[in-house]
Amino acid sequence: MSESLLIDVNASKEEKYKALIPQINALVDGEEDVVANLANITAALKEAFGYFWIGFYIVKNGELVLGPFQGPIACTRIRKGKGVCGSVWAEAKTIVVPDVEAFPGHIACSSASKSEIVIPGFKNDEVALVLDIDSDELNTFDEIDQKYLEELMKTVSKFL
Ligand code: SME
Repeated sequence: MSESLLIDVNASKEEKYKALIPQINALVDGEEDVVANLANITAALKEAFGYFWIGFYIVKNGELVLGPFQGPIACTRIRKGKGVCGSVWAEAKTIVVPDVEAFPGHIACSSASKSEIVIPGFKNDEVALVLDIDSDELNTFDEIDQKYLEELMKTVSKFL
């Protein structure tokens, strides 16, 4: 693995994901430490896309607890069914939020966050963590993000 990612800054979003995912697979291959891998994944996504906030919330003792992230400080604990992250945990499926103000119960860790996508990661068929990505613009995420980020979470499942 080289020390920096090979991503064409002018590429389309889909092309960036196609270039990024094999590099992330290589980055975590052979490393079993969960925190190290999650930390590098958030850094890789930040470097490729520059989103406002990218991080993991990990299921621990009946709550989601803040894990490795890139961006400003954030809420540390989220209960099941609460906010976008807690809803993804409860429903075990991805939620795309085009406008956070239109999502009932959205938890605003930062007023700068305008849209978000949250993707579940599974261990033994149960949600073990979620990946939360926030944008400071409306309508940032779509089915392309969902497709590739769900693929990425399959990589995550392998080292959990
Ligand atoms: N907005 C999230 C909370 C986490 S922060 O955005 C980092 C939610 O509603 O679950």
